Amino acid sequence: MIRELPVAPLAELRGRRSAKWRTYPDDVLPLTVAEMDFALAPPVRDALRAAVDASDTGYSAAVPRLGKAYAGFAEGRWGWRVDPGAVTAVTDVGVGVVELLRVFTRPGDVVAFSPPVYPPFFHWPPEAGARMLEVPLTGELRLDLGAIESAFATHPAVYVLCNPHNPVGQVHTPDELAALVRLARVYGVTVISDEIHAPLVLPGATYTPLLTLPGAAEVAVSVVSASKAWNLAGLKCAAVVTGSPAMAAAVDRFPPDVRWRTGHFGVVASIAAFTDGVPWLDRLLATLDARRTQLGDLLRERLPGIRWRPPEATYLAWLDCTALGADDEPRELFLDRGRVALEPGLRFGAPGAGHVRLNFGTGAEIIDEATARMASAVG
Ligand SMILES: Cc1ncc(COP(=O)(O)O)c(C=O)c1O
Repeated sequence: MIRELPVAPLAELRGRRSAKWRTYPDDVLPLTVAEMDFALAPPVRDALRAAVDASDTGYSAAVPRLGKAYAGFAEGRWGWRVDPGAVTAVTDVGVGVVELLRVFTRPGDVVAFSPPVYPPFFHWPPEAGARMLEVPLTGELRLDLGAIESAFATHPAVYVLCNPHNPVGQVHTPDELAALVRLARVYGVTVISDEIHAPLVLPGATYTPLLTLPGAAEVAVSVVSASKAWNLAGLKCAAVVTGSPAMAAAVDRFPPDVRWRTGHFGVVASIAAFTDGVPWLDRLLATLDARRTQLGDLLRERLPGIRWRPPEATYLAWLDCTALGADDEPRELFLDRGRVALEPGLRFGAPGAGHVRLNFGTGAEIIDEATARMASAVG
């Protein structure tokens, strides 16, 4: 028997002032944006409380403790040896990727990525003045290495990888990553690997950090964060990790003020999470595993028209609703008739037509209620 992480009663959750809980009226159950409903990990809560009690609310000072904390976590978790000095704090993953794109591209250069994918992948290249090239996942929702090779042959400046992949929850295999690295080296494409969901790899899957692959460190850089796994998104802290002098030199070209733009509470909380938050993380993963099983059982029983592949990582479920016949955007059906809010599939790119993304980072009762409402909406 696992000891599941507790979730506060719905009335209490509705008192939260974060985006997930403030976007919809109270009769809607929100299973949208990637925030979790569990109480904070005690070491993180205590570190934040201590900072508040000490009026320790100034600018962040990430060096050297964030790098050391992340290096300890990465080595303990995955055997990935990171140089603490090669960990550079940034505001969040989005800011990290955009600053990297500004360094690696010139105006009009092309940035490739693989939809369906986290919607800001479509926003980051234009923010950095680049153009986009979409190389969709295969029908099996895996990297399409043949299509990536054809795309790389047109010489995009950068490929942005999502590992594990949001919204489909795939953990890319060492073979897939090795093939990607080989192509990047052959065609001279820089890879930015968004690894924000890495600590959320669920039982049954094994995660490979991209920079651990031979030859990767010369052509790739990773962006990491504690924010998804420990639910710290509002505190604003992520980090760029490099493994070679060439990539470190790229990070050295960041504008000088980037270092002042990371949240102090984000740094404090991330250090606590990476250093003392691993037992809680393991309990979280066991809880999410149970929730994944529960969701599968309920979908089979109540919504047999929905197809899905249980994710290998994350607390996000990518639901194929095309068989429900609710046109390209089934999210409206579930919201209007069921009062359940889900992320619309088309936000993740054209392959998301007919899909919704459901956030199961919550308690069993809420998943029970949400699937009952969805079933009544389909009716
Ligand atoms: C793949 C991916 N990258 C980045 C982010 C956002 O990270 P941040 O808030 O640190 O920009 C998310 C949030 O869910 C995500 O799923």
